[in-house]
Amino acid sequence: MAHDEIVDRYSGLARAAMSGEKAIDCGADEFDRGRFGTAAYDDISGLPDGALRASLGCGNPVAVAELRAGETVLDLGSGGGIDVLLSARRVGPYGKAYGLDASPDMIRLARQNAAGTPNAEFLLGTIEAIPLPDHALDVVISNCVINLSDDKGAVLAEVFRVLRPGGRMGISDIVTDEDVDAARRAAAEQRIGCAAGALSVTGYRDVLARSGFVGLTITLTADHGDGVHSAIVQAIKPAVTPGLEIRPMRESDAVQVLAIYQAGLDTGQASFETLAPSWEGFTASRLQRLRYVAADTETGEVVGWIAASPVSTRPVYAGVVEHSVYVHPGCQAHGIGRALLTAFIAAAEDAGVWTIQSGIFPENAASLSLHQALGFRVVGTRERIARHHGTWRDVLLVERRS
Ligand SMILES: C[S@@+](CC[C@H](N)C(=O)[O-])C[C@H]1O[C@@H](n2cnc3c(N)ncnc32)[C@H](O)[C@@H]1O
Repeated sequence: MAHDEIVDRYSGLARAAMSGEKAIDCGADEFDRGRFGTAAYDDISGLPDGALRASLGCGNPVAVAELRAGETVLDLGSGGGIDVLLSARRVGPYGKAYGLDASPDMIRLARQNAAGTPNAEFLLGTIEAIPLPDHALDVVISNCVINLSDDKGAVLAEVFRVLRPGGRMGISDIVTDEDVDAARRAAAEQRIGCAAGALSVTGYRDVLARSGFVGLTITLTADHGDGVHSAIVQAIKPAVTPGLEIRPMRESDAVQVLAIYQAGLDTGQASFETLAPSWEGFTASRLQRLRYVAADTETGEVVGWIAASPVSTRPVYAGVVEHSVYVHPGCQAHGIGRALLTAFIAAAEDAGVWTIQSGIFPENAASLSLHQALGFRVVGTRERIARHHGTWRDVLLVERRS
């Protein structure tokens, strides 16, 4: 369904709720069976009728997100506002709960429902272009909305942008099995209404990973038949020291990434290589999905990077990668390498990697202790394996198993 049609449809449901009717956007029996609407909530006491009548979700994201007092949270596609009101209660007077919806009538309804809740605020806009600044939020929730978007990549990139480093998302949504054909999808759409654009579980994980999220979990919570399910989707934006963020590496980072690479090689302790490759060479030998940079949140300056190459093209080694991590020499000892490596390990595990390996010069004590602190162990020494600036050097082989 096109965006304007979606907005018209939910605007109609908002007007129905405002005139005292119950809003239902799929077969009424699905609501009666407790699959959608207010059935997922333990405690809805004290919520206004207008919010309960307009509850159109497929789960309880507020419970999933484990909100804490003082946090700032955004609900994508907030509808009549039920999850914003529950969030506002959880985050308390020093926290803030935003709702965002593209339907002006839903926003009007939600603002009515939130009268007397000063820490709830509703914004008119789309989830593909969230009208909030970078790093403004601790948590993003959503209830049965992302499946409606025809640009889920944009939505999740926006969620990544507005979360602070270390922030999290916990959402309820509709997902499909991998093999759902058009006829089954259409049958499910007919019954429950939110199946037409739903991603498969693998598709969802891919979009989350491409956006930079780690620690991905997708838990199926209800089976709607025809390979379509409600699910809880959780993910984390990697944490790093204040003022920095870890995000996927982009083409536009090339010059800075290669400069940091060269600066690391110039120390003489990073690698046998003495010259950083061209960007083409760098990019061709490294996995697209497992590349991150640490960047200044104000200036965008890249201060470190991590990336991995496959160790073999043989299928049995599909889950074995070799990584490199480099931090700008002027920014070392600030925890950046640790944050990059922590995020990388989480992303590698999300991607099904079972062994991360690397070689470290024994003289590079800082790198060795960082790797050991994050679960790498030394599995051997290659003695006098090659010459570096004319000197034979040993290499410690380190690996981390998941
Ligand atoms: C299924 S209802 C869910 C409402 C609410 N989350 C709940 O649990 O009751 C979907 C909501 O998302 C809004 N919506 C759909 N697509 C949107 C978009 N691209 N941007 C912002 N809001 C959108 C609709 O207007 C509607 O209020």
